Amino acid sequence: MPSAIPRKTTPDELRELKAEYLIPCVYHFYQNPPHIVAAEGCFLIDHTGRRYLDCYSGVTVMNAGHCNAAITEPAIEQIRTLQHTTTIYLTEPMLRLAKTLAEITPGRLKRSFFCVSGSEAVEGALLLASLHTKRDSIIAMNDSLHGRTRFAMSATGLDMWRTDPFPLDGIHHIPFGDADAVREAFRSHGDRIGALIAEPIQGNGGIRIPDTDYWPAVQRLCQENGALLIFDEVQTGFNRTGRWFACEHWNVTPDVLVVSKAMGNGFPIAAFITTDEIATAYTRPGASTFGGNPVASAAARATIEFHKQQNLTQASAQLGEFFLTKLEAVADKFDCLCGARGKGLMAAVDLIDSARQPDPARLGATLEYLKDHGFLCGKTGSQRNTLTFMPPLTIQREQLDELLKMLAAALNATEAAQ
Ligand SMILES: Cc1ncc(COP(=O)(O)O)c(C=O)c1O
Repeated sequence: MPSAIPRKTTPDELRELKAEYLIPCVYHFYQNPPHIVAAEGCFLIDHTGRRYLDCYSGVTVMNAGHCNAAITEPAIEQIRTLQHTTTIYLTEPMLRLAKTLAEITPGRLKRSFFCVSGSEAVEGALLLASLHTKRDSIIAMNDSLHGRTRFAMSATGLDMWRTDPFPLDGIHHIPFGDADAVREAFRSHGDRIGALIAEPIQGNGGIRIPDTDYWPAVQRLCQENGALLIFDEVQTGFNRTGRWFACEHWNVTPDVLVVSKAMGNGFPIAAFITTDEIATAYTRPGASTFGGNPVASAAARATIEFHKQQNLTQASAQLGEFFLTKLEAVADKFDCLCGARGKGLMAAVDLIDSARQPDPARLGATLEYLKDHGFLCGKTGSQRNTLTFMPPLTIQREQLDELLKMLAAALNATEAAQ
């Protein structure tokens, strides 16, 4: 337990501050969101000292657990030594990180450009594709999420996250998981398509996992049509799915890989990574003030080292199998659950009503019950009815068992309340 819990501001005071000083788009899941003041391992701790098992990891950021000293100590050391300069000088942490990323990413992916957020890295990957192919259009997926900047938001397929009333032209959205749709998009617009961008497993779209032959077929179509394949692994990267990167499940290495979130285990860092050949297209000056920041880079290197030392690849794969079998067993017992699915510790199940239609209200009630009993889980899917589990990869089997017991209790309680 951390020694110093900060001053006990009440949640009501915070809600007032939020209502008055934040842009209203910043929303929360719960009617009474907990006021989180500290964290430790797989737990978040609120202002009363109450502990919650974190089964969402701040949207798959804290894969190596909260306040992990193996990561925070090297970062603190780096803050004391050199906190920030700029990429116009030489600094070691960023360059060592780039080499480490080249070692753990598949195939010939090797050259990185560092920035701060997933959105920014998606923008950079799309810019690189335009520079390399000299084409102005892209293919993107329905129900995808790529970020909040203009191009990334325009590429996003999920209606909920497409806030911009004037999205960019030249983006062709197609159904996810359907190779014929990709073929058709290339047939209609092929000579203008510079890239196809997709999450290998859709995260916010509801943990959607395509068939085994889908990504190899898509890659072939991209190659035949001279377009780059960009994988957005902002959610799926860094062992979330039981592999360093989800694309490894299909044995498909993209031309450009976008990473962020769990790379820094809570320190803001992102990158797009490509091959020697494709990188040659991007020679005009490019700079990101905080990209490759020494502290974030040191934290990311320590994060990767921790993943290796603790073999979190194997932990994620084995715990994921254990969890999915048990989640399927719970789903068999409740008519309101269907479609339990997962890869590694990225798992989900849908909430449906008696007519087998999506039931977002029941999911909301289930999430509230779980929160009130000490478990924080996620909500995804285009219908917002997908209960989503992405705990730290350091979680224990007993904790996953407790979560599923509480899920059964939550479903019984929400059924009785209906
Ligand atoms: C798959 C994916 N790509 C991109 C982003 C955008 O990342 P950021 O919020 O760091 O800009 C997100 C955010 O959740 C994401 O899930």
